[in-house]
Amino acid sequence: SSTAATAAQPRAEWTGQIGFIISAIGSAVGLGNIWRFPGVAYENGGGAFLIPYIVALLTAGIPILFLDYAIGHRFRGSAPLALRRLAGRLGEGIGWFQVMICVFIAIYYTAVLAWAASYFVFSFSLPWGDDATGFFVGEYLKLSDASFTMEFVPGVLIPLVLMWLVTLVVLGAGVVKGVQRLNMIAIPLLIVGFLALVVRALMLPGAADGLNALFTPDFAALADPAVWVAAYSQIFFSLSVAFGIMMTYASYRKRRSNMTTPGLVVAFANSSFEILAGIGVFATLGFFAFQQGITVNELEGLTGVGLAFMTFPAIVAEMPGGPFFGALFFGSLTLAALTSLISILEVVFAGVIDKFGIGRKAVSYGLGGVLAVVSLLLFGTTSGLIALDTIDNWANNIGIVASAVVMSVTVLWIRRAGRELSGHLSALSTFKVGRIWLFLVSVLGPVVLGYMLIATVVKLIN
Ligand code: PHE
Repeated sequence: SSTAATAAQPRAEWTGQIGFIISAIGSAVGLGNIWRFPGVAYENGGGAFLIPYIVALLTAGIPILFLDYAIGHRFRGSAPLALRRLAGRLGEGIGWFQVMICVFIAIYYTAVLAWAASYFVFSFSLPWGDDATGFFVGEYLKLSDASFTMEFVPGVLIPLVLMWLVTLVVLGAGVVKGVQRLNMIAIPLLIVGFLALVVRALMLPGAADGLNALFTPDFAALADPAVWVAAYSQIFFSLSVAFGIMMTYASYRKRRSNMTTPGLVVAFANSSFEILAGIGVFATLGFFAFQQGITVNELEGLTGVGLAFMTFPAIVAEMPGGPFFGALFFGSLTLAALTSLISILEVVFAGVIDKFGIGRKAVSYGLGGVLAVVSLLLFGTTSGLIALDTIDNWANNIGIVASAVVMSVTVLWIRRAGRELSGHLSALSTFKVGRIWLFLVSVLGPVVLGYMLIATVVKLIN
């Protein structure tokens, strides 16, 4: 049985607190911080967005992060195993649902990672000239001539294969020798590189206009429920909670460990990076508007694929020292995406390893190879952009929210494990995790998330 299989080998353990914290930060800091947060904040009240954002962080982000940590750490397993030990078959089902979400996300996340890595290389020669959008859609993705056919695009295929290889080699090497080692190198590099980018961006003409556009508060926006939903979604995606990730990573923490302090460090580091990214991205956009003699509100393509692969390349082409700036931006995007992708796939692989007792290398190369082929079929071909949008939308707006609600209801209302889990968290914590936490994860959380789910479904139907 799977329990026997896992008992046979001691579970891998991070080397100390720092390996865990850095790897968890690596998971949290990803595309969501760099390309999602700045635009979302800008569109949802600007400076005023920080209010719902901080409320969401304190009332749902950190409490659910603690819930993930408590389950993974106490029950020492990947999502399906830990949840089965806690809540039987239903629990295990929720765990596999989280694994499925991770499968979907991994497939498109790798594609974006591959694009970012290619653009890092392109930064040195800026091959798009003055038509960045035309280059991305036409020459790079080849969308213009063969939209819906299954024709492979070598420019995309090669970096995609390479990124899968890197990812699978890291995961195959194990939690300590692969995942932790990579994060210990990539995260410091990412922080230094991104800080350099922000400093450079702030020196550009027009930077102040960009910051004004981002931070000028529109307090009226706070009356709009959609703004609050946006804040909660941002926190969820950005902190990587309720995907099984933080649960899996926590399962590799030594038995007698303080889980709350690392949780706070990870949450604040993630939000700090996010705000830093907002500053860097909008200072750069301010420069872009200034260059064209328009205001920042007149710009388009301020989030996601548009921001990263159309707007930024166009800006880089117009900037003195553009190649250097481009390398910093795409280098950061690559590192941020790689360390997140690894955490997403670790959920999948750990789930299978724990369940079937198959070796890590076999799972990494076998199952990893299958996922890589699916991803190559979808994204090495010209239909990729549409697939990305669809998966992203489903996984994030519905999958993760549903997973969070069902998990907290099952664990806290059906299985009634709240006391046990808060006791576990409190045991070695410097502060007590008690009633307030329990209220937030078992009452407020499910209510807010349930509302979000209904709002999303209603929007889909209409
Ligand atoms: N938190 C990461 C980000 O901000 C993305 C992520 C999402 C990672 C889901 C894992 C799971 O981009």
